[in-house]
Amino acid sequence: MAAFLQTNIRLNSIKIVPGRYSALTDHQFRAPYRIRCAAASPGKKRYNIALLPGDGIGPEVISVAKNVLQKAGSLEGLEFDFQEMPVGGAALDLVGVPMPEETFTAAKQSDAILLGAIGGYKWDKNEKHLRPEMALFYLRRDLKVFANLRPATVLPQLVDASTLKKEVAEGVDMMIVRELTGGIYFGEPRGIKINENGEEVGISTEIYAAHEIDRIARVAFETARKRRGKLCSVDKANVLDASILWRKRVTALASEYPDVELSHMYVDNAAMQLIRDPKQFDTIVTNNIFGDILSDEASMITGSIGMLPSASLGESGPGLFEPIHGSAPDIAGQDKANPLATILSAAMLLKYGLGEEKAAKRIEDAVVDALNKGFRTGDIYSPGNKLVGCKEMGEEVLKSVESKVPATV
Ligand SMILES: NC(=O)c1ccc[n+]([C@@H]2O[C@H](COP(=O)([O-])OP(=O)(O)OC[C@H]3O[C@@H](n4cnc5c(N)ncnc54)[C@H](O)[C@@H]3O)[C@@H](O)[C@H]2O)c1
Repeated sequence: MAAFLQTNIRLNSIKIVPGRYSALTDHQFRAPYRIRCAAASPGKKRYNIALLPGDGIGPEVISVAKNVLQKAGSLEGLEFDFQEMPVGGAALDLVGVPMPEETFTAAKQSDAILLGAIGGYKWDKNEKHLRPEMALFYLRRDLKVFANLRPATVLPQLVDASTLKKEVAEGVDMMIVRELTGGIYFGEPRGIKINENGEEVGISTEIYAAHEIDRIARVAFETARKRRGKLCSVDKANVLDASILWRKRVTALASEYPDVELSHMYVDNAAMQLIRDPKQFDTIVTNNIFGDILSDEASMITGSIGMLPSASLGESGPGLFEPIHGSAPDIAGQDKANPLATILSAAMLLKYGLGEEKAAKRIEDAVVDALNKGFRTGDIYSPGNKLVGCKEMGEEVLKSVESKVPATV
């Protein structure tokens, strides 16, 4: 408890300092964003949560998920100090950079971060370093969250929302563990240069050091161990040197996890198998770029990108929890967004970020309960169900959180 109180005191005396990315003026920092600090109630555990709503539907889904997180936590004796900070396009509009120093500091000092989504048409023509999405790269890199966990589960209530045949989709329950801070998205050399013929060349480098492979592989083996004990490592070891090393290191680690059944698959085959027979997968581990693509493919099996949460974890420090979807500018501000991916991200925050499994289970059960009652946002709607907006879906989940008996985990 002392640690929580100390963090609270630090927040009370937070200063605005000029920094790496920018400084918000005192006025910009306080409005519309604010810090709420309160003394911890006796017998309650207190956590600091950085809320980064971002752009488009981000603020809509974060507002709903925050209420659900607060309610589920309070039923399990948890209190939260939420610190809401601008990021992405919202920060660009406010102070001219996508990741203000103050936002990063608040995120770094928190116990966990809940992020909405970043980006939008308005900033599409910005120079690369001034694009909203750069905030995500800075956050992941500087928080050193190298392990991205993306579950893809077809809930029985939503099997008809899948684009795959019912018999192929039903029962799918996999976890994709994606390496997040290395590989071709960060590798050097990179950039657009002029070659010896005077021609422009674009360069990106796929590079992995042994320790980067080992640490993500360990997360994956541990994850598989807590699930059905099957791990499939996806690479392109028939072509890429970085993948040859990837396969060698993952294979070497397998002897430490004799209870986990390890297999390997080339990424092109994995892309096919995900559509042909997705039930064969339990846990998948793969590099940054393959994980980016395969996890979006897996999301479609579940029916909607609006259902899928994610967790990004490092060796220490706060984890980053966010829905896998983007800012959906086409439906932003219309109360049409599905908030369940963000609500389930809040459940992952409790489970993987804070170790509060009971509160997490309350949220997971409440989502299933709301779906069982037939509530559906437009993206997962099928005839015979009740079409609701983002806010109403949030209210229904809240009601289910309140009405459920304490979860046992
Ligand atoms: N992590 C992130 O913040 C993130 C991830 C991907 C894309 N983006 C950014 O988001 C912007 C839009 O990108 P995009 O259109 O390729 O992807 P997107 O995920 O925002 O939208 C793809 C489609 O899915 C729908 N959709 C997404 N989330 C939904 C939800 N919760 N409920 C209902 N429908 C939902 C959208 O309406 C759209 O039709 C871009 O600026 C992109 O760079 C951000």
